[in-house]
Amino acid sequence: MSVPIVRTLAELRATVAGWRREGAKVAVVPTMGALHEGHLSLVRAALAKADRVIVTLFVNPKQFNSAADLAAYPRTEREDAAKLGPVGAHVLYAPNAEEIYSEGFATTVSVSGVSEGLCGAFRQGHFDGMATVVAKLFLQTGADVALFGEKDYQQLHVVKRMARDLDIPIEVIGCPTVREADGLAMSSRNVRLSEAERVVASKLPQILFATAERLSSGDPVAPTLEEAKGAILAAGFREVEYLELRGADDLSPLNRLDRPARLLVAAWLGDTRLIDNVEVSAVRSS
Ligand code: PAF
Repeated sequence: MSVPIVRTLAELRATVAGWRREGAKVAVVPTMGALHEGHLSLVRAALAKADRVIVTLFVNPKQFNSAADLAAYPRTEREDAAKLGPVGAHVLYAPNAEEIYSEGFATTVSVSGVSEGLCGAFRQGHFDGMATVVAKLFLQTGADVALFGEKDYQQLHVVKRMARDLDIPIEVIGCPTVREADGLAMSSRNVRLSEAERVVASKLPQILFATAERLSSGDPVAPTLEEAKGAILAAGFREVEYLELRGADDLSPLNRLDRPARLLVAAWLGDTRLIDNVEVSAVRSS
């Protein structure tokens, strides 16, 4: 059975108030829809943390930096609601645009530091738009806990910083990336890949994991990353926007693997931009 859909803030608040009277703990899983197993895994993790789970579905125009990308974003609300019922989510909050951006809306939440570089350098205004809508979703739902996928690793850091800085009383939890059988990170954008591109796409996680392994065994950072970029292009990607080693806790750039790290990539395959990241464990002494 499909999960009930709530469209207005008034209805959402009344629902949450009822849950609060019962003493329920509330979780939120923010999404832009086109739900896949990665999202469903967040709902399962949310159910382990809270009594009631709200999934939000809002394709947020403010975080797209291309009108074509916004127009092409998959919209599958009915299928999304049907997927959420069996998993056990309690409500799908799919607000109309005016519930989020009312007439004259003039506020932007901008997080400096962690939002700079990586995707922030290539997607002008993306993290401002994302942080603004996520702040609103946190305040509208009043949830105690929020779950995000680690696939959007920089986003996770931006959201954590934003909630901490604004004293929003919510625990932000990152959950592991869910991958297809061949390793490709699940993403709502994967449906845009042609059959041939889909084959090439699976090379990205293979190169990432192999590069992380080399770095952990002590290979020097800069030349190893250069070789990996070459391998991504040779596999059939048309552009590597970035491939960088960053501190896992604060995303600061690393040119030596001297603490827990993350290897992050964004690359274009035809007209599709793919991002991914993997953990890089400290250099192993042989
Ligand atoms: O990761 C996403 O799908 C979006 O950036 C989010 C967090 C739902 C905000 O619109």
